[in-house]
Amino acid sequence: MTIKAGIFGYPISHSISPAMHQAALDHAGIDATYDAWETPPDALAQGVLMLRGDDYLGANVTVPHKQAVMEHLDQIDELATRIGAVNTIVNEGGRLLGSNTDAAGFIDSLRDEAGLNPSGLEAVLVGAGGAARAAAYALAIEGAASLTIANRTLERARTLADEVGRTGLKAQALALDDDELRHRCLEAQLIVNSTSVGMLHGPAEGLSPIPSEVIRPGVVVYDMVYNPADTPLLKTARSGGAKVAGGLLMLVYQGAASFRQWTGRPAATTVMLDAARRALFDMNNPKKDFSR
Ligand code: ATR
Repeated sequence: MTIKAGIFGYPISHSISPAMHQAALDHAGIDATYDAWETPPDALAQGVLMLRGDDYLGANVTVPHKQAVMEHLDQIDELATRIGAVNTIVNEGGRLLGSNTDAAGFIDSLRDEAGLNPSGLEAVLVGAGGAARAAAYALAIEGAASLTIANRTLERARTLADEVGRTGLKAQALALDDDELRHRCLEAQLIVNSTSVGMLHGPAEGLSPIPSEVIRPGVVVYDMVYNPADTPLLKTARSGGAKVAGGLLMLVYQGAASFRQWTGRPAATTVMLDAARRALFDMNNPKKDFSR
């Protein structure tokens, strides 16, 4: 019996998770396959039901199902409940347990790539969507001193600041065009972009979510956008003397945390990063079809 895992998403054809996880499973000598499961919203319940079979380790969940999947699970851990999103499901003898490894992926990659310990630091987070929620709770858990959440839609930033503020973290919400954001950025040790601004083929391709004047030398600038690897924000940050970190390692570390939950074994993160880079390259440079 081949053991299976995979990822629910819609659309899912551009996911690099299958390449990354298959490489980790193969490297560990685990006889299992990891597939991309293209799952329209009306097929999610049926898809999750399949996971209860004893040949399934579990799954990852991505856009647009991270919230919707929660009602189909038997148990959701505290962090995922607070974030309001599940990206990992473990099948434990037919019971489905949900968790969120994005928060750990963010912190692990921040430590690894930027050498930054979030404890006691002042941070600015741009965005207030699902990815931002994971980062905000991660920073709260790690003991950040303060968090400014700046978002295009102020109301969404307020909601997140209120919620994460209940953990004891000093949190403030600002609109993206608020002058105060400039001061907060200049005082921060960490600036994180969790929006899709700058993403290849996205509606804001080629743009940076914050202006170059707010980046001071020595600040760590972290961009969750990983395609392109060198986003407009990271380019600006680097030329302004900032230390930069990108989201590809976050993807690897959140995947490694999922892998540990399914298999009980550590994941080979260098193998995963290598596979993720190759999958990204292939996606950005599709082979031409000369057969016709
Ligand atoms: P994810 O789960 O990836 O975080 P999301 O929940 O859709 O995705 O959140 C997307 C985030 O990117 C939001 O903060 C969104 O701002 P709004 O709340 O105002 O929609 C932000 N975003 C997307 N496109 C943007 C743009 N062109 N300029 C500024 N912010 C943008």
